Amino acid sequence: MTVIAVFNMKGGVGKTTVAANLAAAIAKNGVEPLLIDLDPQAHLTSMYGIKTNSSKSVYRFYQGLSSLSDLVVPLDTGIQFVPSHLELGKVDAQVTRHRDNIWRLKLGLNAEMLSGSGLPIIIDCTPMLGVVAFSALFAADIILVPVAAEYLALNGAMQLSQTLFGLEKFQSRKPRRYVVNRYVPNQITAETVAGQLMRHFPGEVLKTRIREQEALAAAVGSGSNIFDFAPASNAAADFTFLLDELIENNLISLSRDLPFGAD
Ligand SMILES: Nc1ncnc2c1ncn2[C@@H]1O[C@H](COP(=O)(O)OP(=O)(O)OP(=O)(O)O)[C@@H](O)[C@H]1O
Ligand SMILES: [Mg+2]
Repeated sequence: MTVIAVFNMKGGVGKTTVAANLAAAIAKNGVEPLLIDLDPQAHLTSMYGIKTNSSKSVYRFYQGLSSLSDLVVPLDTGIQFVPSHLELGKVDAQVTRHRDNIWRLKLGLNAEMLSGSGLPIIIDCTPMLGVVAFSALFAADIILVPVAAEYLALNGAMQLSQTLFGLEKFQSRKPRRYVVNRYVPNQITAETVAGQLMRHFPGEVLKTRIREQEALAAAVGSGSNIFDFAPASNAAADFTFLLDELIENNLISLSRDLPFGAD
């Protein structure tokens, strides 16, 4: 498994936080993951301080004018990053004109031999349910769903499950894992949400829980990841556990077979 779409159409649940810090955890192990900002909000792109125009963003790829590899910006942390831009929103707006865009990411990753290479590829998905988000779901080998431990989280997870079920007409069911985020140990709401998720999605809820940690929000503010910002924090430990659990489940592997010329 290589391509991980971090997806939840509920906004603000931690998709970007999980994508960025999971990629950082992988990079810390000496493997350079490809991290794609697939959100017109371009939160990751601004977090990394990248001021880009749309012609150097993933929008260009969806226009058919650039390969993904040509858009990669290598970050100091070892992450190979593809930036986004507000104009990516046009892909959803032009759905009837460019129906093929729904397969573009899958085909592009295959054609550029990025998927299947053993290279972990992490996609930070937009919460907008449209062509861009669907293209990530079609490209993914595994769908990682952060769920914030808050009231109505289960509602959101059930709606998401129905949406993914709808896609099974076009592709077989893909492995899916829910990860509880903003978890506060022993807090009634957090424990209830975690318990409900485990009952409704047996075998699909990761044991790792990402605790509510101010350091995670502060790391974003400083354009950093949790391993550089607060290496001894609970949050850094949680992301190390998350990577370890995905590796143990054979959902990710730290192959050193790198297509970007490192090593
Ligand atoms: N475990 C956590 N502890 C503390 N703050 C967190 C945690 N997870 C996420 N946050 C904060 O919550 C906010 C939303 O997180 P994030 O941007 O990752 O969500 P998202 O799902 O990507 O949002 P969107 O749907 O808008 O893309 C951010 O300010 C982030 O710093
Ligand atoms: Mg986000």
